[in-house]
Amino acid sequence: MRDTAEVHGYESTSYGDGFAEIYDDWYADVTDVGATVQRMVAVAGSGGHVLELGVGTGRLAVPMVEAGLSVTGIDASTAMLAQLTLRDPSGRVTAIAGDMVDDLPDGPFDAALVAYNTLFNLLEDGAQQRCFNAVAGRLPVGGAFVVEAFVPNSENRSRSDVSVRSMTANRVVLSVSQHSPDRQEASGQFVELTEAGGVRLRPWMVRWATLSQLDAMAATAGFCVESRWSTMDCSPFTDDSTQHVTVYRFKG
Ligand SMILES: C[S@@+](CC[C@H](N)C(=O)[O-])C[C@H]1O[C@@H](n2cnc3c(N)ncnc32)[C@H](O)[C@@H]1O
Repeated sequence: MRDTAEVHGYESTSYGDGFAEIYDDWYADVTDVGATVQRMVAVAGSGGHVLELGVGTGRLAVPMVEAGLSVTGIDASTAMLAQLTLRDPSGRVTAIAGDMVDDLPDGPFDAALVAYNTLFNLLEDGAQQRCFNAVAGRLPVGGAFVVEAFVPNSENRSRSDVSVRSMTANRVVLSVSQHSPDRQEASGQFVELTEAGGVRLRPWMVRWATLSQLDAMAATAGFCVESRWSTMDCSPFTDDSTQHVTVYRFKG
C-alpha cells in the first residue's frame, strides 16, 4: 500500500468549502486573537498595512482592522470569504478571492501574516517556498512575515486515528485522520452524523515543514529569523513547544 495521507479530489478550496459554515463556531478561540493583533501591531507599526494569507472568515483580520491596522486578506475559498462578508459587511478588510501563492496583490505591505498552520495548506512540491518568495516580493526591506504553525512531532503520531470530537443525543462528530511521516503529510475528515441530516464530511489536509525547513525556505527568499516564540504573546520557545510563532524579517 502506498504510504500516503492524500485525500483524492482534495483542492485548495476544499477546506474552506467544508468548514466555512461551522468555522467560527468550532475555531473562534483556536489561537489567541488578542495576542495576534498585538503582535501584528508591533511588527507592522500602528496603522500599518498587513497582508493576511488564508484570511478565512476574518477571525483575525477584523480584530486587526478594529485595532487600527489596514488589512488585505486573500483566501481561495469563496465560502470562507462569504462568512467574512457577514462579519465585516462594510468591507473594512480588503478581501481578495485567490491563491496565496499565485494571486497575491502587489502591495507593498508593512507585514504579512500566515496564522494557524495555514502555510501547511500548501500541498504541492515547492508551493511553500514559492509562497515565501511571493511574500518577499510584497514587503519592503525590514518588512515582517509572521508564521504561526505547529511543530511537527511525527514520532508520537499513530498513522491513523479516529476520535470523538463532540457528541449529543442526536448528533456525533468523529475526527478521522491519517499521517504519513515520510511525506510530511496529514489528512482527515470530520464526519458529522445526525439523525435528521445524515452524513456530512469536512476534509482537511496539510503538508508540514520542520522549523529548519521553514527557515531554509525563508532564507532562500531573503528573510532572516528575527524572533521565535511558542505563542503570539511571546511565551518562550523551548524544545517542548508544540507550536511556534516565527517573525521573519526581509533583508532584501
Ligand atoms: C485554517 S484556516 C485559517 C483562517 C484564518 N487565518 C484564521 O486563523 O482563522 C485556513 C484558510 O486558508 C485558506 N486556504 C487554503 N489554501 C489556500 C490557498 N492556496 N490560497 C489561499 N487560501 C487558502 C482556506 O480556505 C482557509 O480559509
